[in-house]
Amino acid sequence: MTLDGVLAGWEGEGTMISRDVESGAWIVIALHSTHLGPAGGGTRMREYADLAEAVVDAQRLATSMTYKFAVAGFPMGGGKAVLAVPRGLGVEARRDLLRRYGARVKSLRGAFFTGPDVGTSPADMDVVGETGAPYVFARTRSGGGCGGSSPPTARGVHEGIAATLRGLDGDASLDGRRIAVQGVGSVGQLLVKSLLEAGARVVASDASAAVREGLRGAGAVEVVGIEEIYDVPCDVFAPCAMGGVLNSETIPRLRCRAVAGAANNQLLEAVDGDRLRQRGILYAPDFVISAGGALYVVGIEALGWSEERAADAVRGIGDTLLDIYRRAADEEVSTERAARRLAESRLAQSPAPAA
Ligand code: PHE
Repeated sequence: MTLDGVLAGWEGEGTMISRDVESGAWIVIALHSTHLGPAGGGTRMREYADLAEAVVDAQRLATSMTYKFAVAGFPMGGGKAVLAVPRGLGVEARRDLLRRYGARVKSLRGAFFTGPDVGTSPADMDVVGETGAPYVFARTRSGGGCGGSSPPTARGVHEGIAATLRGLDGDASLDGRRIAVQGVGSVGQLLVKSLLEAGARVVASDASAAVREGLRGAGAVEVVGIEEIYDVPCDVFAPCAMGGVLNSETIPRLRCRAVAGAANNQLLEAVDGDRLRQRGILYAPDFVISAGGALYVVGIEALGWSEERAADAVRGIGDTLLDIYRRAADEEVSTERAARRLAESRLAQSPAPAA
């Protein structure tokens, strides 16, 4: 798609694109909605084929953040930043880019709050915060933040998998269940660990051959190739890597009873939610099950919540999913459509009071 088409075709509030001349990176900040509050969303850093691909990613991820906060009833809107970096960016150049990016975030004067995402860490948020404070979430503890969003994201996904199993057959226990995890990155590895602790049998894959080797060496999980993960017979397939993995090519191959994982934008298109439903596969909408990190971090750092209250919000993801599964069954629609309806009904109401 052309960049004109991408920019014209989006229903969000605005897309800001700037060129970071020094590093050759593009900085894309997509604000989808500030209706319920300032736009919040992570900063993704990776290489893209071209600028249009980076903009599409930022926009889709920003939209998903609006839904994430709306379903949870948070006074936040949705946004996302993408730093589309050139190949082989050095450590120093990367750090300088993060500082200039922080200044860009600050120039928005609170319309956009950011945190870590794929390709960035809490330590990176410390650097962004040097110029971008106070609009930077999930810094390290020594940097004044709550230490990152991956642990609460993984906890929320674990809760969500248990709730999804309950939705399938009334039993939330993970003991003896077979779970296929796609992507063993910062969230995936924590999820694998907690699933194993709960007695699940885990089959895993990762795009990195080195990561796959490491997993094989550790011995606790069965490791398969990146393409084979779709064909693994299992109770739950948990996508924890990139988006678009549920599509017309992969869905017919799945041999799971449910899909419940951490990745954002798992469906390539909205009809893929219908395709899953037609196959009788229960789908945990990604913007619901992956919300733990955002809810925990925003709860503590922006809403002044205690750790207990934020942990309760993460645990609540299980009940929210069960509610969505009931609505989908009642309304005879996919769980994706039921979750979107729930978010849209919240967005149609007046802005939530700051909790
Ligand atoms: N990566 C997080 C997500 O997709 C984004 C985030 C992290 C937002 C921390 C706010 C705070 O939900």
